[in-house]
Amino acid sequence: MDDDWFQKKIAEKRALLAPETDAYRVLTEGERWRGVSVDALAGRFLVSLRNAALPVDLRDALLRSGADCYIKRLDREQKEPPTPLNEPKEELVFPVQENGARFLIDMKSGYSQGLFIDQRDNRARLRDVCRPGMTVLNLFAYTGAFSVCAALSGATTTTLDLAQPCLSRCKENMKLNGIDPERHYFCRGDARHWLGRFAVQNRRFSIIVMDPPTFSRDAKGKHWRAEKDYATLVASAAKCLVPGGTMLCCTNSRRLSEKDFYNFVQQGVPVGARLQTLPMPADFTPENYLKTLWIHT
Ligand SMILES: C[S@@+](CC[C@H](N)C(=O)[O-])C[C@H]1O[C@@H](n2cnc3c(N)ncnc32)[C@H](O)[C@@H]1O
Repeated sequence: MDDDWFQKKIAEKRALLAPETDAYRVLTEGERWRGVSVDALAGRFLVSLRNAALPVDLRDALLRSGADCYIKRLDREQKEPPTPLNEPKEELVFPVQENGARFLIDMKSGYSQGLFIDQRDNRARLRDVCRPGMTVLNLFAYTGAFSVCAALSGATTTTLDLAQPCLSRCKENMKLNGIDPERHYFCRGDARHWLGRFAVQNRRFSIIVMDPPTFSRDAKGKHWRAEKDYATLVASAAKCLVPGGTMLCCTNSRRLSEKDFYNFVQQGVPVGARLQTLPMPADFTPENYLKTLWIHT
């Protein structure tokens, strides 16, 4: 086995990235081993295993790299943080860069580390289309990476999530990028509930970002499933758009085909809206689980 294969793969993936970006996918699932992917995060490596064991060749390459390496299992309801493969030399909470924007990564937190790097191209596009004076509603915001990008382009953001720690982390991410969170809005609670409120209050947004989990429960325990409920969610969001507004709809549901997702979203959007797909970032090729539709009304 070629001892350099890992370093060559890193060089190959880095060549695909824009400057000032140090969070990317080194190895996609199936690229070398089924169920094994590796992300680089500011010089550390995070391996994800889905019904797979850590391959010996990968383990050796990671240890040879001398970087801090972590392992997490995607096949379990993992609440515990990723497990270090070697003794970490660097901090466990640290910023990564993406097109010059900075986001905090937390290796001490459970299933997700603070940034979904597969959304990089959608964030870049949002940054491109936002202008001062625009209003952006970021639903299911998690740590608010979309809000940071919109705010960096001068838009006023409303960041909404069920979890208060996510909103707090969004404020930290804003500060890390020189954005004053006091100039932006934050809503804690269920997205469907808030969309209903915004519609009644006649509150309208220039752009709405919608990247829900595949499955969710609201505060009253009512279930939501991407495959079943996406169209209804899109229809509620469409009522909160300014005339000519834009929506970004995403799903990472592996159960939902691109075609079915397109049909679901189309059911919810106003007549005459234009739907445009965007592929996953180049370092993720050939993975295609993340489906994206930009909707121009
Ligand atoms: C897949 S993550 C979203 C990732 C985010 N769009 C990004 O790119 O960083 C899902 C988020 O939705 C939030 N969430 C789950 N159910 C929700 C609900 N009913 N209403 C609002 N937020 C919800 C979770 O707390 C979590 O932060």
